[in-house]
Amino acid sequence: MNIISTKDYQEMSRKACELVAETINTIEKPILGLATGSTPEGLYQCLINKHKEEQLSFRHVTTFNLDEYVGLGSENPNSYRYFMNGKLFQHIDIRKENTYVPNGSAENLEEECVSYEELIREHGGMDLQILGIGLNGHIGFNEPGTPFTSRTHIVELDESTRQANARFFDSLEEVPTHAITTGIGTIMESKKILLLISGENKADTVTRLVNGDISEDFPASILKEHPNVTIIADEAALSKL
Ligand code: GLP
Repeated sequence: MNIISTKDYQEMSRKACELVAETINTIEKPILGLATGSTPEGLYQCLINKHKEEQLSFRHVTTFNLDEYVGLGSENPNSYRYFMNGKLFQHIDIRKENTYVPNGSAENLEEECVSYEELIREHGGMDLQILGIGLNGHIGFNEPGTPFTSRTHIVELDESTRQANARFFDSLEEVPTHAITTGIGTIMESKKILLLISGENKADTVTRLVNGDISEDFPASILKEHPNVTIIADEAALSKL
């Protein structure tokens, strides 16, 4: 894992933005894996700016989001589809039909998982997968204990994850108990992975990631076995290393 240290959140977002723009500019039909959460917001804003000011075009880009809450439809402001539309897609020239997010309100969720995985496979997997990390080491919504070989599946969210994400909802009770997530096996097949980590509250998480063992108890640890992972982390996140 290649670790790039940045002064702060802004510099982390700018550096990530350069790497994503380079992928878009050098691959004919780039397939990007996208993440939600607070961490990539600065990256998405920077990509919007590059589109508006430097003509970075997303016409040939296809995106697959990592995950979605079960039960939240695209019109729900807390759904990840809504987040992606508002934070990125509606401000750039991407074709809406080339933006994929698992459908958390599908009638048959098992079927949704199988067809989402199939769709990723048909597209040849991600050229670049952007990741954030949960405090407990989760990637996407792959909570501790998820098999490293997992494919797109339904998960029961950890209580700690629901609490961490409750800040986006009116109350903890409103945070869904389940989500659809691409699997760790799916993520590991990405050609390149870019993991963004910011803030002092992630310092213990980063330390465990870098110094700890590879174990299903800490899902992100498997990234050490991937041949092309770049971590961009700010000084606060790296402060306990
Ligand atoms: C959620 C998402 C993850 C994300 C994590 C961290 O659980 N499913 O993909 O990495 O939150 O979020 P944040 O960036 O807000 O710390």
